[in-house]
Amino acid sequence: MLDAALAASLNLPHSCKGGNCGSCRARLLQGEIHYPNGTPLGLSDSEVAEGYILLCQARALSDVRIETFDINTPDQARSKRLPARIERAEQVSHDVMRLYLRLPVAEEFRFEAGQYIDIMLQGGRRRSFSIASPPHDSRLLELHVRRVAGGEFSAPLFDDDRHSALLTIEGPLGRFAYRPGDSPLLLVGGGTGLAPLLAILRHVIENDIERDLCLYWGVRAERDLYAQAQLEQLVVRAAAGHRARLTYVPVLSEPTPEWSGLRGWVHEAALAHIPDLSQYEVYAAGPPAMIAAVRHEFGPRGVAPGRLFFDSFDYAPDTLDRQRTNSATRS
Ligand SMILES: Cc1cc2nc3c(=O)[nH]c(=O)nc-3n(C[C@H](O)[C@H](O)[C@H](O)COP(=O)(O)OP(=O)(O)OC[C@H]3O[C@@H](n4cnc5c(N)ncnc54)[C@H](O)[C@@H]3O)c2cc1C
Ligand code: FES
Repeated sequence: MLDAALAASLNLPHSCKGGNCGSCRARLLQGEIHYPNGTPLGLSDSEVAEGYILLCQARALSDVRIETFDINTPDQARSKRLPARIERAEQVSHDVMRLYLRLPVAEEFRFEAGQYIDIMLQGGRRRSFSIASPPHDSRLLELHVRRVAGGEFSAPLFDDDRHSALLTIEGPLGRFAYRPGDSPLLLVGGGTGLAPLLAILRHVIENDIERDLCLYWGVRAERDLYAQAQLEQLVVRAAAGHRARLTYVPVLSEPTPEWSGLRGWVHEAALAHIPDLSQYEVYAAGPPAMIAAVRHEFGPRGVAPGRLFFDSFDYAPDTLDRQRTNSATRS
C-alpha cells in the first residue's frame, strides 16, 4: 500500500519500509488488508486492536479507506529518479566511507535537512542512505556509508575503486526532516545515524538560525568517531555565530581504558544528563535497537509523540525478505 501511495506521488510518512519503525502507521477505516510476512514487529497488540496498520507491509485485499496523520504539503519537494556520479569517496574510519555524489547540472534537487535517498540496484532493489550535507550545500550530496559484511552496495565500495562510478538514485525521501521552531533540539545518533543529524546541525548553524542544539553521538570505540574534528569545528562555529548554540557529547559503548568521556548506551547518557525532556524536540537516527529504545524510554520522560522524530536504519526490504525466507526454510 505504501508503494502504491508513493507511486501516486503521495509522500506518506515512512522510514524503514521493513515493518519495524512504525512511521507508516495508518488507521484502516474500511476494507480488508493482509500481511504476506505476518503481523509486523513495528505494531503493538493494542495498536492492532485499535485498527492501526503499517502501510509498508500491508497488501490491500479490497478497496480500502485509510486515515494517515501527515500528508505532504504542496510545496514539499517531489522525489525523482536521477543519475549521480561518485565524485569522491573518502574512507574516514575502518568501516565508514564518505561518498560525495554529483548530480546532473541541469537538475534541481531540492530536499530538507534530514531526508534520505535510495540508491537503485539491479531488479528495482534499493538501498537507503541519509543525506549528510545540508540543502544549502547541494552541489555534491554527501553520504556516510557503513560497511556491512557481505553488503551488496556497501562492501564493494571498500574493496574496489568506485571513483567515477555512475549510480541511479531516487529522492529525496522520508519525513525525518528539520522543523523550524523555538524549542531546543536534542539529537541522538548511533554510528552513521550521525549523517541526517549532521545535515540538520549544518543547516541551523551555517544559516545562523537561533536554536539550542544538543547532540549525543554514540559509537563503539574511539576509532569509530569518524567525524570528531568536524563536530568540534561546528561547536566553535556555532559559538562564533551567536544565534545557534551547540553542545556535543560523544558516548562510547566499548572505549579503551584511556577514554575519559561518557561510556555506555547513547540514549541512556542523554536521559541521565537531561532530567526533563518536555521542552525538547528529539531527533534520533541510527540502528533499529537504539531507535526502539528511544521510542520506549523518551515518551515517559516527557517527550510528546509529536515532538519525537526518528529514522531507523533498517535492513533494505529485499534483505529483510531474504532473511524471512531463510528463517522460514530453516524452521
Ligand atoms: C531511511 C534509512 C536511512 C539509512 N541511512 C543510512 C546511512 O546514512 N548510512 C548507513 O550506513 N546506512 C543507512 N541505512 C541502512 C542501510 O540502508 C542498510 O544497512 C542497507 O541494507 C545496506 O546495504 P548493503 O547493500 O550494503 O547491505 P545488504 O546487501 O542490504 O546487507 C547484507 C547483509 O548485511 C546485514 N545487514 C544489512 N543491513 C544491516 C543493518 N542496518 N544492521 C545490521 N546488519 C545489516 C544483513 O545480514 C544482510 O544480509 C539507512 C536505512 C534506512 C531505512
Ligand atoms: S514500519 Fe513501515 S516504514 Fe517503517
